[in-house]
Amino acid sequence: MTRTPEQNRARPLQKMFSSVPGRYDLINRLFTWRLDERWRAAAAEECLRDGAARVLDLCTGTGDLAVRLAAGAGGRGAVCGADFSLPMLAVARRKAARAGAPVLFAACDAAELPYRDGSFDVVGIAFAFRNLTYRNPGRDRYLSEILRVLAPGGKFVVVESSQPRSRVFRALVHLYMKVMVSFIGGMISGQRGAYRYLAHSAVNFYGPYELTALLLEAGFSRVEHRALMGGVAAIHICRK
Ligand SMILES: C[S@@+](CC[C@H](N)C(=O)[O-])C[C@H]1O[C@@H](n2cnc3c(N)ncnc32)[C@H](O)[C@@H]1O
Repeated sequence: MTRTPEQNRARPLQKMFSSVPGRYDLINRLFTWRLDERWRAAAAEECLRDGAARVLDLCTGTGDLAVRLAAGAGGRGAVCGADFSLPMLAVARRKAARAGAPVLFAACDAAELPYRDGSFDVVGIAFAFRNLTYRNPGRDRYLSEILRVLAPGGKFVVVESSQPRSRVFRALVHLYMKVMVSFIGGMISGQRGAYRYLAHSAVNFYGPYELTALLLEAGFSRVEHRALMGGVAAIHICRK
C-alpha cells in the first residue's frame, strides 16, 4: 500500500499513540480531575443537538466520545470512530462492546478517510485537533478531509485544550502541564517522550480566537466557541 506524504510524516505520532493506550484513560482522568469526561459530554451534546444521524468521532483514541455519541443517539443513525493507532482502537472496541454501544470503528489516517464525500452530518474531535494542527505539516490535508466527508451544512465540533484569558491562571495551568502532565505523566506511563510532547503542544497551542481564525481560513463558517473552566479547554462549533 502506498502512503501519502502526510501519512509518512504522521508516523512518529502514530508510533507515539500506539505506545500509550494502557494507562491513557487513567492518566487523562487523573490530570484533568475527571473534567475530561464532562468536556467530552458537552461536545457530544453539541454533536447531537440537531438530531444528527450520521456522526464521525475523528481520532477516536480509546473511543470515549464515540461511545457517548452512540449512547446519546439511542440507536438512531450511525456512529463511526476513526483512528490510526491499532492499540488505541483495540481499547475502544472493547469499551464499546462493554457499553453495548454500536460504533463502527475504522483504522485509518485522518489524511485519507475511508468515507465518501458528504458521508456525515457531524464530525466531532476530542483532544486530538491539536495533534492534527499543532506544527503538523499535514494540517491542510486533514482539514480538507474533514470538509470533504461532511455533508453540505454539516457541523464540525472540536473540544480541545485552550489558553485561559487570565495571564495568572494561564501561567498556573502551564506550570501544571509542565510538572504534572509532562513529568509525572511520563513517569506513570513510562512514555516520557509522549507526555513531554502532549504538555509542550498544550502549552503552545492556539487560544480560542486563533483557532477560530484557523477554522475560517480552512473554509469552515459560522464558528462559535465556548470556554470551559476559565479557558483551560474550549469547544468550537462550526459549519461546512
Ligand atoms: C490525545 S488522543 C485523543 C483520543 C480521544 N479522542 C480522546 O478523547 O481521548 C489523540 C488520538 O488521535 C489519534 N491520531 C493522531 N493523529 C492521527 C491521524 N493523522 N490519523 C488518525 N488518528 C490520529 C491518535 O492515534 C490518538 O488516538
